Amino acid sequence: MLSLADKIKNNGKTYFIQTFGCQMNEHDSETIAGMLQEAGYLESPERNTADIIVMNTCSVRENADNRFFGQLGQIKKIKERHPDLIVSVCGCMMQQDHIIKKLKEKYSWVDIIFGTMSIHEFPQLLKDCREKKEKVMSVYKEQESIIEGLPAMRKYPFKSFVNIMNGCNNFCTYCIVPYTRGRERSRAPEEIISEICGLVADGVREVTLLGQNVNSYGNNADFDCDFAELIYRINDIEGLDRIRFMTSHPKDLSDRLIQAFADCSRLCRHIHLPVQSGSSRILKKMNRRYSKEDYLALVDRIRAAVPDIALTTDIIVGFPGETEEDFEETLDLVRRVRYDSAFTFLYSIRTGTPAADYPDQAPDEVKHRRFEKLVDTLNAITAEKNALYQGKTVEVLCEGPSARGDQGTYGGRTDTFKLVNFDAPEDMTGKMVNIKITDAKTFSLFGEIADADLQK
Ligand code: 5AD
Ligand code: SF4
Repeated sequence: MLSLADKIKNNGKTYFIQTFGCQMNEHDSETIAGMLQEAGYLESPERNTADIIVMNTCSVRENADNRFFGQLGQIKKIKERHPDLIVSVCGCMMQQDHIIKKLKEKYSWVDIIFGTMSIHEFPQLLKDCREKKEKVMSVYKEQESIIEGLPAMRKYPFKSFVNIMNGCNNFCTYCIVPYTRGRERSRAPEEIISEICGLVADGVREVTLLGQNVNSYGNNADFDCDFAELIYRINDIEGLDRIRFMTSHPKDLSDRLIQAFADCSRLCRHIHLPVQSGSSRILKKMNRRYSKEDYLALVDRIRAAVPDIALTTDIIVGFPGETEEDFEETLDLVRRVRYDSAFTFLYSIRTGTPAADYPDQAPDEVKHRRFEKLVDTLNAITAEKNALYQGKTVEVLCEGPSARGDQGTYGGRTDTFKLVNFDAPEDMTGKMVNIKITDAKTFSLFGEIADADLQK
């Protein structure tokens, strides 16, 4: 723990955090910011003038690695102008030995290195680094349980991420995450509920529960609560408007969770269900442990229980050995499921994963061609699905001024996770607003406030 004297000493010093990757990293960065604030540091509006820079890295695909090293090159120039600048690097890349080796050899001016399981140690590492004027590092490969009680500097006052578990046990053959985040560990339900109650008391209306595979929440834990049960318990929290979660592995999605969508009024009608491929042959090589037919049957069960649920997914093209027929299976699955939207990825070789050593890697040109075709197919469906919203009135949690930057235009999401922009005479941020959709585009909806009295 830092003393009051430490905090006073830090006062006026500023930090800047740059985050790469997924929501888990965004959430970790909020924790890092919370700890820095608690230690008396202030957020710097820009990187160039900060006293401390933190780079929270992602390893999931090669371009994330490359972007990080590109940024590090720029930071070196800042450090040359400000020798007192403390450069800290953390996140998934730090869990890999070849990255640490590269940092030590080529970027030895980096001051602090810490891994995904050492976040709570950052204030102490920083103190050591500043006082002893030496480089410090903390990387663990495994962690017993999740550290509770860390602060967070939330980006939004009205919505929040809530981590329910860390790590992944699935070892999909393309994926680096099980190696960078360690084995699955679940937080106790009481801790999660008490955190959410605190957030609600603080004005939070929407929580997004985070885990690499929320459907295996509670497996091998010393408490008796699975993910569906957790949802039922969270749904009872008075004052909370919306519950979201990510990510769900199809192989572990229970019938009770499907039932929860029907029973729990606060649970948003959206499920992100990564399929990765539509070919059962490729799914097997990916170690996903479901077939195309299993996945389609699951979608049918979900839609039978919740007909208007929005479905989104992740798809990888160009996995080693993917043939034209395999790719056609993916297109076929996409046309049958009719996703509301999807994230699409070119397969990226990740050192240390089984698929990196598969012999039949696809040429870049093939990957790109399939990628384009997949995106065209998906976008056409997304546009058709969005068109169904035309003329409907939907409830939107306003997240702030629209990203498009138009004066007086605000943006928010429906419970089905559709982005809706609308004009408003006053700031609607954090409010639930009824919007009548007047224009449906491929990637967003546009509408007008339906009934001024219905804003909450
Ligand atoms: N190459 C391409 N995409 C990947 N993903 C994970 N690993 C890789 C990889 N090596 C994608 C998966 C996952 C999403 C978060 O990132 O689709 O669901
Ligand atoms: Fe990676 Fe598969 Fe775990 Fe998701 S479930 S984090 S894709 S190994």
